[in-house]
Amino acid sequence: MAPRCLPSLLVFYLCFCRNRADFYVFDDKIGLGRRFDGIGGLSGGGVTSLSLKMNKTRKANSYFGASLHILKVEIGGDAQTTDGTEASHMHYEGDENYFRGYEWWLMKEAKKRNPDITFIGLPWAFPGWIGGGESTPYHYPSITASYVVSWIIGAKQFHDLDISYVGIWNEKDFDAKYIKILRETLDRVGLTDVGIIAADGNWDISTAMMLDPSLYGAVEIIGVHYPGTKTVQEALWTQKTLWSSEDYSTFNDDVGGGCWARILNQNYINGRMTSTISWNLVASYYQDLSFGRDGLMTAEQPWSGNYVVESPIWITAHTTQFAQPGWRYLQTVGNFTHGGSYVALTDGKGNLTVIIETMSHDHSVCIRPVLPAYNISAQNATFRLKGSFAEITELQMWYSKFDYANSKSTLFKKLPPIKVTEGFFTLSIGVDEVYTLTSVTTGQKGTYPDPPSSTPFPKSYYDDFDVRKNPLPLMKLHTLLTRRVFLKYFQNLTDPGPHVFTLRQIITQQPIAWATDSDHTISIIGDYSWANLTVSCDVLIETANPGGAFVAARVSRGGESVRKAMGVFFFVMANGTYKVTNDIGETVLAEGLSGTKAGVWYTLSLTVKGQFAFGMLNGRVLWKDAVVLNPKNGWAAIGTHSFEFGQFDNFKAVVE
Ligand SMILES: *[C@@H]1O[C@H](CO)[C@@H](O)[C@H](O)[C@H]1NC(C)=O
Ligand SMILES: *[C@@H]1O[C@H](CO)[C@@H](O)[C@H](O)[C@H]1NC(C)=O
Ligand SMILES: *[C@@H]1O[C@H](CO)[C@@H](O)[C@H](O)[C@H]1NC(C)=O
Ligand SMILES: *[C@@H]1O[C@H](CO)[C@@H](O)[C@H](O)[C@H]1NC(C)=O
Ligand SMILES: *[C@@H]1O[C@H](CO)[C@@H](O)[C@H](O)[C@H]1NC(C)=O
Ligand SMILES: *[C@@H]1O[C@H](CO)[C@@H](O)[C@H](O)[C@H]1NC(C)=O
Ligand SMILES: *[C@@H]1O[C@H](CO)[C@@H](O)[C@H](O)[C@H]1NC(C)=O
Ligand SMILES: *[C@@H]1O[C@H](CO)[C@@H](O)[C@H](O)[C@H]1NC(C)=O
Repeated sequence: MAPRCLPSLLVFYLCFCRNRADFYVFDDKIGLGRRFDGIGGLSGGGVTSLSLKMNKTRKANSYFGASLHILKVEIGGDAQTTDGTEASHMHYEGDENYFRGYEWWLMKEAKKRNPDITFIGLPWAFPGWIGGGESTPYHYPSITASYVVSWIIGAKQFHDLDISYVGIWNEKDFDAKYIKILRETLDRVGLTDVGIIAADGNWDISTAMMLDPSLYGAVEIIGVHYPGTKTVQEALWTQKTLWSSEDYSTFNDDVGGGCWARILNQNYINGRMTSTISWNLVASYYQDLSFGRDGLMTAEQPWSGNYVVESPIWITAHTTQFAQPGWRYLQTVGNFTHGGSYVALTDGKGNLTVIIETMSHDHSVCIRPVLPAYNISAQNATFRLKGSFAEITELQMWYSKFDYANSKSTLFKKLPPIKVTEGFFTLSIGVDEVYTLTSVTTGQKGTYPDPPSSTPFPKSYYDDFDVRKNPLPLMKLHTLLTRRVFLKYFQNLTDPGPHVFTLRQIITQQPIAWATDSDHTISIIGDYSWANLTVSCDVLIETANPGGAFVAARVSRGGESVRKAMGVFFFVMANGTYKVTNDIGETVLAEGLSGTKAGVWYTLSLTVKGQFAFGMLNGRVLWKDAVVLNPKNGWAAIGTHSFEFGQFDNFKAVVE
């Protein structure tokens, strides 16, 4: 039995020795640490494309689940940005539309749940016209700044969304001149409250800011990616707010949960970063694409509606339900003697929240950077509450323990409150645990209905793109992702014929890319395991020279690595030829005359079975017996030969 501790130094010393407990003080009177700015999720890189069926009925303004403080979204740039392509609000010069893509929807749904949520916008890529032929957005900085600022204005005007912060160019070099012009452009239209985060890469901008007062003035927050919980001296010298503006990116099993628990505490303890934002918010893209399941939760089956609330959601709740942006860290935050860490925060009105994590090394490795070795063991810790917290007599206790050996983890469980006796309490802390000890009583685990069961992508899939039959067109469109084809529903009003509603490729200029581009436009669909199948689609080539369209099967890659995709690609060209290639880089399997031309609809059909493939044009065999040794499986795809208009209708995939 632990002896009763009294607040006398001597007795305390005895307690300490008898218990073999280490000793930690929480005191707000010695001064406070930095302002806590919140925990966030990031929807960028096409990661949310499959999430449109998530339940929308949760009660607004109550703490539940992750209770995120920040939602950061991509400002779509019509280019592939990891796992998909997000729409620009200005595809072409003079074009303007603030209803494209899913980020507006996502932000509005987030605001319903948390009216105080902070929104951030950041471009990954830009439509080609922004650069006037150059592959950088900095060549015409005023055009780029106006483009970004109009997105912020559009968010307010059309969706009543207040964007609080805007970034520069995700993980690319920053340009000081552009940052200053962006600041001036924001100020000129009255958006003086919109802060600039820079540079969403490494810490290098810190030094540049110290040498350039107007750059220093323009940047409100230094945001870095994957800092490994550490900062650099130059960043501290700026005295600016520091954020880990993109972090995590780790498979969302229990090790991913461990990674997230460790960095949420240690980004502040080691790096003085006051916000951590997870890439990504929700893993809503095919799992076989890059960084599969690297989200706080998983929702990758719109056809079944299945979703999985993964451990990082509950790890997030340990902080987000008990500390809000505007709270301050105490000065007493740090590492425990035997490994693990603790942070303490206060609202300045007497509330105290302490978050403890004791993640072991191998159970908390993040995808990057390398995590140096460290040891951790079970320990007893005695805490003393001083200052405004001296009168607290009990603290609510929320508990998680990762049980890696038996995969029977306890996540975000409410334990009986811990008694605080004369300002003291002792906690026996194990390894791979997370505790929240708090005066806040509003925490709740909540319940949610069982999600529908997981099912594979249907083996027979048909889409006529008719928005009249699918009042929520995106519900079907979402399955066509990883678009280098920028697919858009299109209604031909002039002379409908049988193809009134189609899907149209509308990007006619190579965008200013973030990831490596393909020279063709391509959209993948289906299941990566598909091996023997027939893919067919009606295609309309709109451009005579050098127009073309294709259907494909067994496509081995999508997203940011689509340029290296292998598969069977059946192209028909406007110049009356066809070509069958084994990779999107054009290793030819078959070629010849097709008689195809622009402005005429054709039905292309591609069948792959075992090592052989054949193709049909309008129901007649055009080529056959092409030998396909590799790949053995992959997605189906459609696309155009170059950045050109082209249309698709009656897409069908039938898998054996
Ligand atoms: C959404 O949540 C509500 C309330 O919890 C529940 O009644 C409903 O069945 C859920 N819908 C789906 C599709 O999960
Ligand atoms: C806390 O411990 C980690 C290792 O787990 C170490 O990298 C870090 O530097 C320590 N932080 C402080 C402030 O001592
Ligand atoms: C703590 O926060 C609650 C709201 O969660 C508030 O009602 C209360 O006054 C605060 N202060 C203390 C000392 O609990
Ligand atoms: C961890 O503990 C082992 C065994 O005591 C020791 O050999 C090793 O050096 C320790 N590692 C670190 C990083 O302290
Ligand atoms: C923690 O304290 C309890 C009770 O005094 C003791 O049994 C236990 O061995 C201690 N644990 C450690 C790791 O020191
Ligand atoms: C509309 O349909 C007609 C007849 O099929 C076709 O000639 C025309 O090219 C189509 N327009 C577009 C923009 O696709
Ligand atoms: C047809 O167009 C394709 C794509 O531009 C080109 O590679 C091919 O050489 C052309 N064939 C003929 C016969 O002009
Ligand atoms: C595909 O067809 C080939 C030839 O019939 C067969 O050997 C192979 O097992 C099939 N693959 C799958 C995944 O069905």
